[in-house]
Amino acid sequence: MSDMFPDIHDTPASEADIRAALRQAADLAARYLATRGEYPVIPNIAPGDVAAALPDAPPEVPETLEAVLGDYRRLIEPNVTHWNHPGFLAYFAITGSTAGVMGETLSAALKSNAMLWKSGPAPTELEERVCDWLRQMVSLPTGFVGHINDTASIATMLALAAARERAFPSIRQDGMSGRTDLPRMTVYASEQAHSSVDKAMVALGLGLAQLRRIPTDDAFRAKPDALREMIAADRAAGMRPIAVVATLGTTSTTSVDPAADMAVVARESGAWLHVDAAYAGPAAISPALRPLMRGWELADSIVLNPHKWMFTPVDCSVTLVRDVETWKRAFSITPEYLRTDVGAATNLMDYGVQLGRRFRALKLWMVIRAYGVSGLRTHIERHCALARELGEWIDGDDRFERVAPTPFSLVCFRALPQDANATATEIDALNERMLARINTDGAVFLSHTKLNGRFTLRVAIGNQHTNRATIENAWTIIRCAYDEVAGA
Ligand SMILES: Cc1ncc(COP(=O)(O)O)c(C=O)c1O
Repeated sequence: MSDMFPDIHDTPASEADIRAALRQAADLAARYLATRGEYPVIPNIAPGDVAAALPDAPPEVPETLEAVLGDYRRLIEPNVTHWNHPGFLAYFAITGSTAGVMGETLSAALKSNAMLWKSGPAPTELEERVCDWLRQMVSLPTGFVGHINDTASIATMLALAAARERAFPSIRQDGMSGRTDLPRMTVYASEQAHSSVDKAMVALGLGLAQLRRIPTDDAFRAKPDALREMIAADRAAGMRPIAVVATLGTTSTTSVDPAADMAVVARESGAWLHVDAAYAGPAAISPALRPLMRGWELADSIVLNPHKWMFTPVDCSVTLVRDVETWKRAFSITPEYLRTDVGAATNLMDYGVQLGRRFRALKLWMVIRAYGVSGLRTHIERHCALARELGEWIDGDDRFERVAPTPFSLVCFRALPQDANATATEIDALNERMLARINTDGAVFLSHTKLNGRFTLRVAIGNQHTNRATIENAWTIIRCAYDEVAGA
């Protein structure tokens, strides 16, 4: 076996050599996935530890398979944060799946690059079909056309570029700098919207100063009346509202903006409505949860991330667009070397900035087929039920308080000190210490946010292997941490 790797590097390698090498990688992946709960969720290492163990320079000569895979096992696998661990309850807890790994592996083998239909016929058509499957699964109407990006952050930036294209088509040719004939272009998103909206403002040259933060109600939802007033004031001041972003499932709390009301305001003002449903969008696979999305069918574009709550390995983010012509006008440029003779086929390079694109549809197709819509629905509903149950435990314990509603599978809460006169700073400090204590345990990993300026703990449930025992254990660890930190 020690000469296997040089054989692989030689051309052509035999099928037996390729199989033997890939089998070893598959064995490692299978063992890792089967023992996913055995590592501490977060590795106990410091910044620079991994780099210090890596050679400074690349190898001049081919290395053996044993050497490379041995180093993978020794240096890489134990030193990742284990997103596939059932106790990973941080950020938006997400997990891959066997089907997703298969799709990822096979797409790497094909190394397809579907920038044009001609450069990737099956990948192009599968991407269109699988996005339409997802549209049907979440019960959105026909008329939305889907494509896949790496992340929701990119999708949101593209959506704002499309909004700008619709408002001022001349920008495509003439740009924005140095022009006195353009008004300031404003974009509206709730104060709970994801930072990807801010990043898009920066990247597109719209400027953070033109991002209007819609105030939220006591459940962290954008107030549509405030949106209407802000738009009216900006219009009166000569500005041009180009886009409204509604978030269905915000990052800090999973609050749900009133998309239907925001759609009315967006339409009145001629602004593009982009719906960020990166995390919660797949929840609409469940008829019970679907009503929370009311109004998203009125959007101009919607982003949902199968790599968050649909067991698809990172990266895979689906964008559904209604006004495809405007969207494509914002990006399409066809140099001579990319011109083809295939007529009306879709060329996915027209849907964004990147030319080369990974074959992400393959893993999503395999995941949907492996679970079936019913399987995905069952997991999503199960996660929400676990979150509700944890919420009830928290509500029933006067050492803790829940600080946001739990519409999906995220629970936001904080610990309360025994001293009823504790200051806000002291309460925040207690919760920060608790988080650190909880996460040193190794069995679970929680993250935090700030709500109304106050430190808040988050338990996010989204891993297919997270079950009631995991959440019971997390609750025990949380209460033990309280006893240690609050000194009960
Ligand atoms: C609501 C929301 N939008 C967008 C994003 C960004 O997602 P991505 O990592 O795919 O860019 C996140 C990430 O958690 C999110 O919660």
